[in-house]
Amino acid sequence: MTGPLAFIDLAEQRRRIAPEIDAAIAAVLDHGKFIMGPEVARLEAELCDFTGAIHAVSCASGTDALVLALLAHGVGPGDAVVVPTFTFAATAEAVALLGATPVFADIDAVSFNVDPVSVEAALGVAVDAGLHPVGIIPVDLFGLPADYDAIAKIAAANDLWVLADAAQSLGGSLGVGRVGTLAPVTTTSFFPAKPLGCYGDGGAVFCADDAYDRVLRSLRVHGQGSDKYDNVRIGINGRIDTLQAAILLVKLGVFPGEIVARQQVAGRYAELLAEVVQTPTVPEGSVSAWAQYTVRVANRDNVAVALKDAGIPTAVYYPRPLHQQTAYRGFPTAPQMGESERAAGEVLSLPMHPYLEAASQERVADALRAAVALGSGF
Ligand SMILES: Cc1ncc(COP(=O)(O)O)c(C=O)c1O
Repeated sequence: MTGPLAFIDLAEQRRRIAPEIDAAIAAVLDHGKFIMGPEVARLEAELCDFTGAIHAVSCASGTDALVLALLAHGVGPGDAVVVPTFTFAATAEAVALLGATPVFADIDAVSFNVDPVSVEAALGVAVDAGLHPVGIIPVDLFGLPADYDAIAKIAAANDLWVLADAAQSLGGSLGVGRVGTLAPVTTTSFFPAKPLGCYGDGGAVFCADDAYDRVLRSLRVHGQGSDKYDNVRIGINGRIDTLQAAILLVKLGVFPGEIVARQQVAGRYAELLAEVVQTPTVPEGSVSAWAQYTVRVANRDNVAVALKDAGIPTAVYYPRPLHQQTAYRGFPTAPQMGESERAAGEVLSLPMHPYLEAASQERVADALRAAVALGSGF
């Protein structure tokens, strides 16, 4: 019990499903349909079963999922899209890539998700800047669904669409609704470290609208029309590889059990760390996919070093909000961004995966207690 712990133990998962994964890969190598092979449609059907979504359009990454969803909404120059500043760059990047303007909103201090009050403020800033607000992209940070009820109300009042960036939250839910159905359009990522990850890049867009689904499928293949060389719109090469779809089909088989196991791991952390650091809170009725278990701690960087010395890997998601990043500094923001800036200085993500054992978590807690006692904590 003295060697380094894994931050995300993909090797343990691989050990458990190795024969099925190897057989799935071998089947693709044998049939040779590497692009849009039969596993792709099967994956999409199983993703619909799992989430309850009407349509699932698989694609090459979570970033492409955002780009495809925005293209299908017709986003372009002059349009403003409100996004949280405390997120991975891809959320704002996809908007900017299409020539539209990301307008940054602050987060809620407890959930780390976009603050609806700040969304309204950001919309005002966008209008004052002469932009045309078209949509909101809430992000389910660390696996916890955003406040979709509040955001839907703002969207309805301002005639905006809502696009859920659920790259981190597949497997989570809000009330009876599962991630994939909490907004009219949802994107996710199958990056290896995500709750449902493949062995490379992958992503998906979920939606309920038939016409929007057809546009997504066309955009994914260069804006294809009735046949391969009929191009009816500008699209991208955004397909998922058949090999990744085959891997995801196997992983989907164990995913529901992994989501349950993640709740147990999070519950154990909450007990062990209650008096040590500020632990995450899940609102009544929500289920987090626990992509990350992120605590707040004063003197964060020193605590992280002490944990590293004790063989415990940690990560900081995210050390700088997007509105303070070189590439995004020029875009408009809501007037107050203090919660995102404070979070960036305090967050620390601990080892988190479905196979994390109680003894390892006790080791994390002991090391964290010692580190906090040395530095300072909450
Ligand atoms: C919130 C968020 N959005 C988008 C993405 C982009 O996903 P991908 O890495 O699959 O392109 C990620 C993942 O890295 C993410 O965390």
